[in-house]
Amino acid sequence: MGQLKVEKPICLVSNEPLEVVLDLGKQPLGNGFMLEKSSPDQFYFQLTCGFSESSKLFQLIEQPSKNLMFHEFYAFETSTSKSMIEHFKSTGIELKKRYQINSSSDLVVEIGSNDGTFLEPFARSGQRHLGVEPAKGLAEIAQQKDIRVLNSFFDSKIATEIKSEHGSARLVFAANVMCHISEIFDVFLGVKLMMSDDGIFVFEDPYLGDVISKNSYDQIYDEHVFLFSAMAIDYLASLVGMELIHCERIVTHGGSMRFHVANRNVYAKDRSVREIIEEETRLGLDRVQTFLKFASSVANSKKIMKGELTRLAESGLVVSAYGATSKSTTIYNYVGIHEGLISQIYDNSPQKIGKFSPGAGIPIVNEKNFVSDRNDVIFLSAWNHSKEIIGRNPWFQIQGGKWLTHVPTVGYVDV
Ligand code: TMP
Repeated sequence: MGQLKVEKPICLVSNEPLEVVLDLGKQPLGNGFMLEKSSPDQFYFQLTCGFSESSKLFQLIEQPSKNLMFHEFYAFETSTSKSMIEHFKSTGIELKKRYQINSSSDLVVEIGSNDGTFLEPFARSGQRHLGVEPAKGLAEIAQQKDIRVLNSFFDSKIATEIKSEHGSARLVFAANVMCHISEIFDVFLGVKLMMSDDGIFVFEDPYLGDVISKNSYDQIYDEHVFLFSAMAIDYLASLVGMELIHCERIVTHGGSMRFHVANRNVYAKDRSVREIIEEETRLGLDRVQTFLKFASSVANSKKIMKGELTRLAESGLVVSAYGATSKSTTIYNYVGIHEGLISQIYDNSPQKIGKFSPGAGIPIVNEKNFVSDRNDVIFLSAWNHSKEIIGRNPWFQIQGGKWLTHVPTVGYVDV
C-alpha cells in the first residue's frame, strides 16, 4: 500500500528543515473569546512547535491566517494595564535620550501601535510620528487621541510608501509585535528600507530564554509565531545588513528582551550582546535537545496542574482565575480545564467581560466582582501581572485565599 508522504516542516526564514519539538494539541485562537459557552464553528488548529539549529528560530509549525487573528475586533488593548502605560512612557523617554532623537525633525514609527499608548507622549510633545496598526478598532482609538496611524499591516511595500511620503525613520519601535509576524524577513527588509543610515530599530518581545527557564509554555499560542533569542535576532538582522547592537532584559510579559538593531558598523556593538549570547549558549538555546527537554517539563506541568485542580474541585473549594489572557487559552485547552475546575475568570477589559474563554468556555466576569465573590483559590492566568493583581488585593490572602501559579512549577505563591 502506498504511504502518504508527510512533508517535513521548514523554517519560515532559512527554509531549512525544522525539528518538531513540542505538541500542545488542538487549540482555538488565543484571543478567540466566545459569545456563547460553546461555539460549534470555533476555529481549531494543531499547536506544534519546531526549531531550526541553523536559524535558531523557535517557531509554530501551523499558523492560522493573520486575518483571523488581527482583525477589526482584536481584543487586546495596551492601556488596560497601568503598568504597561508606565512601561511605554519610560521606554519612550529612555530611547529618545539614548539615541538623541530630535523632537521636531526626526520621524518615529511604531509597528503595531495598538491603542497609541507608546506614541501618545511623542504626539503630545510635537514629535513627527506614525503608527502602523492592522486592527481597525485599535487604530481608531489612537486616532481619537490625535495620534497619526496608518490602518495596515507592516511590510516592505508599506515601508517604501512611508519613506516616500514621510522620509526616513530615525527610530522604529515595536512592542510585542515582531513575534507575531510570520513574514518576519519581509518586515526586517521593510525596516531596513525605511530607516535612515543612523536609524535604530528597537523591539521587545517575550524572551525565549525566560520561556525555557520558567517553563512558561503559555507564551506559545497562535499569535506568537516566533519566540526569539538574541542569537536568532542577530541571525535575522545579518540577512538584511543590520546587526544586534544592544539587548536588555525587561520584566514585561513575564520576561521579555528588548533588542536594539542598527545598520552594520554604525553603532558600537556593546557587551550586553556578547553576554546574553554566552548565557543562551549555556542554556542550550541553539540546540534541538533543549527544546525536547522543555517538552517533557511541559507535559509534567500539565499532569500536576490537572491533578491539583481536580483535588481542589473534589474538596468542594471554589477556584477562579484572574486575567482572561490569550496565553491562558493554551493552558486551559492543553490541560483540559473546564468550568467544573475553574468556575470563572476575572478581567477588566470591556471586550472580554460577558464572553467565554476560547475553547474551554469558562465565563469571563468583571474583576470588580472579585471582592464580593467567594473564592478559595485564584489561578493567576495573568501571572505576568501577578505583582499588580496580588498587590491590589491583599485582603484575599488575609481571608485565607491562595494564589495558584504554574510558573516556574505548579504551586502556590508565597506572598
Ligand atoms: P496580557 O497578559 O496579555 O497583558 O493580558 C492581561 C489580561 O489581564 C487582560 O485581559 C487584562 C487583564 N487584567 C485584569 O483584568 N486586571 C488587571 O489588574 C491586570 C493587570 C490585567
